[in-house]
Amino acid sequence: MHDWFGRRYLDLLGSIYIYNEYRGYTALDRVLEAVRARWPDDGVLIARIEQHRADERKHYLMFRRWFERRGQMPLSVDRTCGHIDRFVGIMFRSTIDDLEPQQIVGRDALFERLCRVISLTEKRGHKQVEILLRHPLVEGDARLMKIFRVIEQDEPSHWAPYDDWLHSHGCREPRWWERAIDSFIHGELLFLKLPILFLNPRLGRRTAWPDEREVARPIAHARALAST
Ligand SMILES: [Fe+2]
Ligand SMILES: [Fe+2]
Repeated sequence: MHDWFGRRYLDLLGSIYIYNEYRGYTALDRVLEAVRARWPDDGVLIARIEQHRADERKHYLMFRRWFERRGQMPLSVDRTCGHIDRFVGIMFRSTIDDLEPQQIVGRDALFERLCRVISLTEKRGHKQVEILLRHPLVEGDARLMKIFRVIEQDEPSHWAPYDDWLHSHGCREPRWWERAIDSFIHGELLFLKLPILFLNPRLGRRTAWPDEREVARPIAHARALAST
């Protein structure tokens, strides 16, 4: 029973993380595209967001390898478990996929809001990782501990570019209600969604890796070119 509990907990934790890491770097791809279009000469900002994107992709791959070693696919959790999905949904009243980054980045007030959402999400992520590094179930898994230690190191450089942009543009600090929304989303995930998923026997596993389509696309494209 204890073994089942522990395995299920880590399974679910890894599944929520791999979803969020994938969501993170793919959403940053779209932000980057818009930032490059608006501030093509701001090489520093572009390079910092590129580094952030590269780190999230690296985190995604670490979790993918962790699942591969376990010989299991991640549980199929969706955007209801995505912190950034919920945060963007509340702050912009839109899903990430429906959001037009060009429009957000094109208006200072909206980009300011986006910077705050990303910064608060990253700070939340850092706090959560520190808690997990002291969690007895996580401590029992050496590979997972290694992953969380890497994330703990990377996270401060993730919120810095957005905080620096806010400071250099004379923007205000996050208000209490923005912090409250962030805490609410985290609490909802931890105390409502996680227990429901934990106990849901019908929660299936993914049949493909989230980034498999990305790999398939260039190959299909190359084939199409070769046949012309
Ligand atoms: Fe990450
Ligand atoms: Fe991060």
